Amino acid sequence: MTLMNNKERVDFLRREHTLAREEMRVLFESMTEEDAQYLYQNAAETAREIYGTEVYLRGLIEFTNYCKNDCYYCGIRRSNRSAERYRLGEDVILNCCDNGYRLGFRTFVLQGGEDPFFTDEKICALVSKIKERHPDCAVTLSIGEKPRQSYQAYFDAGADRYLLRHETINPRHYRMLHPVELTIENRRRCLEDLRDIGFQVGCGMMVGCPGQTTDFLLDDLYFMKEFRPHMIGIGPFIPHRCTPFRDEKPGTLTDTLHLLAIIRLMHPRVLLPATTALGTIHPTGRELGILAGANVVMPNLSPADVRGKYLLYDGKICTGDEAAECRRCMELRMEKIGYHVAVSRGDSRV
Ligand code: SAM
Ligand code: FES
Repeated sequence: MTLMNNKERVDFLRREHTLAREEMRVLFESMTEEDAQYLYQNAAETAREIYGTEVYLRGLIEFTNYCKNDCYYCGIRRSNRSAERYRLGEDVILNCCDNGYRLGFRTFVLQGGEDPFFTDEKICALVSKIKERHPDCAVTLSIGEKPRQSYQAYFDAGADRYLLRHETINPRHYRMLHPVELTIENRRRCLEDLRDIGFQVGCGMMVGCPGQTTDFLLDDLYFMKEFRPHMIGIGPFIPHRCTPFRDEKPGTLTDTLHLLAIIRLMHPRVLLPATTALGTIHPTGRELGILAGANVVMPNLSPADVRGKYLLYDGKICTGDEAAECRRCMELRMEKIGYHVAVSRGDSRV
């Protein structure tokens, strides 16, 4: 039995940065449009108290779409024979960074499938070359599950941050999304190792992915509260036509915005991107994400000729644009809602 109304729940969450599980459930499941506006407003104010109206930019370089894994949701899974595979050479990647630097990016995110071609040696060489050319920039890696010694080598080579969404912390749900060789235990081990080593670490999940229940989402929220990541990446699940989840429903804009705002109130200082997937399900999804408490955007720096091949889901935006266009577009989008993109590394203030 609960005596709070949703506005009081939001006030409590803003003040205490947590809420009892049952209260959180009621808030999530009974949110009216008016409650949601109140939630977004509180989340955006919380972000502004810490980060002002600055939005941090990350330049995303999708450097390989080869992947040895077979996650059921992902368009670049190894069983998708119709994916046109590519790898970027070192020179091309370094060029993307140079170009990004000129455009004001001070963080480069190297993301890819789990591609054995990129050995630890190659990744380390790449990271140290980027850091040599741009010592004032941060390098973020997002290349999946590795042994601890690999993570240590990347860190020693100069990598600053690592993104590895946990996807779902519930083992039963994890099993619905991944084949048996992938386990939540190993995912957790990776996240612990990364934090231990000294990376700024990001975890997160897809909103509305198949099999997700409110209970599983609550498990994710409380897991993240305990883990205290520096970054949290969430975006809607969007089906890809060549995956086992082709006929599943996508996650909704509303659920994603509710969660972004709740996460902001639970983790006032966390780095929280308004993701490309959010921009894909709604024309102003990223702007709405910022207005619900997000404070990071990740425009694409990959060369235009490969963008259309890094397709995790159908309908991905910005596949035909040059980096400079995306950068300018993002600046205008942010200015329209009273924010501005920052030329800085944009480190976590956790
Ligand atoms: N291989 C690395 C890893 O596993 O962390 C990085 C690349 S992986 C494709 C990046 C993220 O894309 C995943 O963590 C997942 O949450 C997201 N993703 C994959 N398929 C998606 C889909 N169909 N809809 C929305 N997001 C998706
Ligand atoms: Fe890429 Fe708008 S952010 S075109």
